[in-house]
Amino acid sequence: MTFQTVILAAGQGTRMRSARPKVLHPIGGKPLLGHVYELAQGLGAEAVFIVYGHGGERIPESCPGFEATWILQSPQLGTGHAVQQAMPHFADDRLVLILYGDVPLLRRETVQELIAGAGNATLALLTMQIDDPTGYGRIVRDAHGRVLRIVEERDATPDERRIREVNTGILACRGRALREWLGRLDNGNAKGEYYLTDIIGMAAAEGHEIAVSQAREPNEVLGINTQSQLAVAERVFQSRQAQSLMDQGVTLLDPARFDLRGSVAVEGQEIELDVNVVLEGCVRLGHRVKIGANVYLKDCVLGDDVQILPNCYLENAEIGDGSRIGPFARIRPETRLADHVHIGNFVEVKNSTVASGSKINHLSYVGDTVVGQRVNIGAGTITCNYDGANKFQTIIEDGAFIGSDTQLVAPVRVGRNATIGAGSTITKDTPEDTLTLSRSKQLSIDGWQRPVKQEKK
Ligand code: UD1
Ligand code: CA
Repeated sequence: MTFQTVILAAGQGTRMRSARPKVLHPIGGKPLLGHVYELAQGLGAEAVFIVYGHGGERIPESCPGFEATWILQSPQLGTGHAVQQAMPHFADDRLVLILYGDVPLLRRETVQELIAGAGNATLALLTMQIDDPTGYGRIVRDAHGRVLRIVEERDATPDERRIREVNTGILACRGRALREWLGRLDNGNAKGEYYLTDIIGMAAAEGHEIAVSQAREPNEVLGINTQSQLAVAERVFQSRQAQSLMDQGVTLLDPARFDLRGSVAVEGQEIELDVNVVLEGCVRLGHRVKIGANVYLKDCVLGDDVQILPNCYLENAEIGDGSRIGPFARIRPETRLADHVHIGNFVEVKNSTVASGSKINHLSYVGDTVVGQRVNIGAGTITCNYDGANKFQTIIEDGAFIGSDTQLVAPVRVGRNATIGAGSTITKDTPEDTLTLSRSKQLSIDGWQRPVKQEKK
């Protein structure tokens, strides 16, 4: 069925107590509004209208890729008033689906059911049975179970407040009827707002059939009004993602301690993630990847058999098959490690490529460097890539051995199979197959005696 969608995102979100417009608060790293927009796109809406207002242009500016018509609601006089602003845009003969920008966890199947249920009805409503209806509009039915109207909590009688069937805010309505009913809204209620929910009473009074479908997953219609609801929604969203990963065969040692803020491509089997792994951006995982506890990965590609030991931070990096990182390693952007590379504890690598079989195992900084194959970089090696103004490159050719506590002052090249003696400061290119070292001579002084502590008089 063809339909158009209006997303309401103009409200202030006072209860969040935040300077940030409510719909820009993230769940799983993506703004609430982004979740709702993607839902509308995924459902195949022929047009998406987004009503914005509070937060002003910051909202459309924060959503650059959206294929939507942005409609300003100013001032914000309620949900009904918000839909009124979009009225000139929607067609009389179309079904209009209304989504709330602060209800981000709605599942596609649920909305599909609502749209299908709309069938020949003028209006279709999505409701939900919940144990604690606080804050939601209540669905008032007559003795035969027919929907009569929706009453907002603030306007409800004590009896009505006990109703546990609540309004999710999601509804679908024929364009013509919606236009007519919206034109008749008034603001004679506790909040002094134009309530969208009042159109239900109008439809019922005119004898229209109101199709009702119910959301089945308890949390999917959670409306985000407060920080604590945002936190609940985050956990619900994360547990859905964890479930989806487990469905793809990934082992999560504790699905409650896994966070994905972006997307992950599972490109292999027997992947195992220990607790407190956070994945952000686009992450790809190959066969038998093992990620230890407390690891943060952003925009990384991990080949087959990669092991990330606990407490590592990797960003915008490619890690080749069989490589091992950490514990306590930091891999910074534009790092490409080939196969079977070892990066050990307290090592930082930035904007560098490391060819296969090379090792940087302890306490080193390697930046703007090209490392060849089978290179061994000893403990405490530093590439001095920055002179305070510009960055320079270090090249370490295949088979080189860099002794511990070496500084390589870039630009500099270490030749193939060269050996650098421990403690050297290398400022000039070093020849192939040769030992190079810069070190002051060791002295031993015969007859030297330690000072003796003088007795105080
Ligand atoms: C609304 C419903 C309530 C329902 C609940 C579900 C009304 C009157 N009430 O209440 O029945 O149970 O959602 O979560 O509709 N908005 C605008 N412009 C405005 C006001 C609001 O665009 O002038 C947007 C908000 O940004 C938000 C949505 O509409 O995305 C809902 O507004 P909110 O104030 O949160 O309504 P609730 O009190 O939660
Ligand atoms: Ca709300």
